[in-house]
Amino acid sequence: MKKLEEYVKSIPDFPEKGIIFRDVTSVLQDAEGLHLAIDQMQEKLEGVDFDVVLGPESRGFIFGVPIAYNMHKAFVPVRKKGKLPRATISQTYDLEYGTATIEIHKDAIQPGQKVVIIDDLIATGGTTEAIIKMVEELGGEVVKIVFLMELAGLKGRERLSGYDIDSAIIYEGK
Ligand code: PRP
Ligand code: MG
Repeated sequence: MKKLEEYVKSIPDFPEKGIIFRDVTSVLQDAEGLHLAIDQMQEKLEGVDFDVVLGPESRGFIFGVPIAYNMHKAFVPVRKKGKLPRATISQTYDLEYGTATIEIHKDAIQPGQKVVIIDDLIATGGTTEAIIKMVEELGGEVVKIVFLMELAGLKGRERLSGYDIDSAIIYEGK
């Protein structure tokens, strides 16, 4: 049986020279790859007491919803600016390529709730750091953060030191 990491296709020099792009679509388009990805991410949450999963648009939705559903938890979408219809809070942050603003509804997290953040990838950690700020602004507690893939060379884990982070696949480089 193929291992999860064998489903990830790596594309050199995309989107720019020197970057190796780890393509999540190559995992998703294989039924076994998709199963392994969800199962191995969900395993990281065994024994974790939490109330709600947060996942950032758009690739965080892909993994966050099935895990929330399987574990009978709520899911809160973290959306790109201007998409949410009710009162929001937002954070602007630096991406690996450019900047972005993300938002969640103000009533999405209640004070004291335990939150798990799920995304496909941690690169610089900027996206996750922005999400953590919003969770904490609303009085939530980030108890665990799970990624499918981690680019360890970009030191996102150091940026988020003090938080409990787990990744199904860790690449040593960038
Ligand atoms: C990508 C990826 C992570 C984030 C990781 O999302 O899906 O969410 O970047 O980078 P960071 O650790 O440096 O913040 P992107 O913003 O490209 O949007 P997408 O999920 O809609 O493709
Ligand atoms: Mg993303």
